[in-house]
This record gives sequence, C-alpha cells and structure tokens, in this order.
Amino acid sequence: MYGDIQEILVTKESLQEKVKELGKRISGDYEGKELVLIGVLKGGVVFFADLIRYITIPIEMDFISVSSYGSSTKSSGVVRIIKDIDIDISHKHVLIVEDLVDTGLTLRYLKDLFEDRGPEDVKVCTALDKPSRRKVEVPLAYNGITIPDKFVVGYGLDFDGKYRNLPDVCVLKPSVYASDDDK
Ligand code: IMP
Ligand code: MG
Repeated sequence: MYGDIQEILVTKESLQEKVKELGKRISGDYEGKELVLIGVLKGGVVFFADLIRYITIPIEMDFISVSSYGSSTKSSGVVRIIKDIDIDISHKHVLIVEDLVDTGLTLRYLKDLFEDRGPEDVKVCTALDKPSRRKVEVPLAYNGITIPDKFVVGYGLDFDGKYRNLPDVCVLKPSVYASDDDK
C-alpha cells in the first residue's frame, strides 16, 4: 500500500492537532445543548472516531451513508441515500461530520435533508476542504485543513474502495489510476 503513494499531503500529526482543536471548539460552542453528530459513511468514520474523543460534552451519534462517487475520481453529481439515520433529530442541534468537501453537492443535499426534519440547526464539520472545486456554496462551521485540487486518499478517503486505512492524507502515484482505467 505504501508503495502506491507519491506524496504525503497532510501528516497524521497535523490531522490530530487539527481534530483536537475542532473538538475543543465544538465542546465550547455546544455546551448545554442537545448535540447530535452525524457521520457520513464510509469516508467520515476515521475523522468521526477521532473527533468524538476530543469532545467533552454529552453527544448522540448516528450515521448516514450516501453515494456520490463511483469507482472513478470524478463526481457524478448524483447523491443517493444508502442508509439513513435512525434517531429523531427534531429540536436538536445537528453537526454533520464529513471527510472532505469537494464540489459541495453531497453536503448541500444532506443539509437540506436534515433541515426538513425540524432540528434546532444543522451545521457542518469537515476534516478536509478542497474549495477550488466547489459547485455549490455550503457554510463550513468547522473546517479542518484546506488542501489543493488533488485527488487524495487516506484518513477515511478511498480510491476504488481502498487506502481508507492510511493514517496520513496522501496523493497516489499516477500509475495506480492508470491501472484502474485498464479494468
Ligand atoms: P462532493 O459532493 O463533491 O463535495 O464530494 C463529497 C465526497 O466525495 C467526499 O466526502 C469524499 O467522500 C469524496 N471525495 C471528494 N474528493 C475526494 C478525493 O480527493 N479523494 C477521495 N474521495 C473524495
Ligand atoms: Mg464522503
């Protein structure tokens, strides 16, 4: 797996430092409020698991699974719910936890979906942000690390279902994508 990496873009140390800072801010901002963290599967799980351990107030958690990407590296623009949340979010404060905001299409869809269910408010927390590719504006209340327009893997993010378990955010060697096209 490590042989497929061209470059480490964000190290695990800088990720942890940032996640700690976000957890602290969230704990302060939502003190005394009913907070529900909703993780976006599958990519958001690594960040989610790290983040909740830096949050020092009581929280509820749930997960939603959506699909916006096929096996390629380009956005289809189509968002489909594969697994919805189970809990009632009405009158609660919702924080969507996402791995990366790219075009913004997934988050726009999720924010609208949850807002229709009567919560107190819906905000977004993302580990990574790729603002150069944004198609729709989504306010990011908690933004981790801004990265350039490169396809990245690791820290939950995949290419063709793999590399999610890399602890750093990495760029793959072009040869890895080339072999995908041959399939
Ligand atoms: P968006 O709808 O274009 O904002 O993309 C949302 C999702 O696409 C992210 O949460 C990721 O799961 C996936 N995605 C976007 N860019 C990348 C990337 O560089 N590597 C891996 N997955 C990505
Ligand atoms: Mg995602």
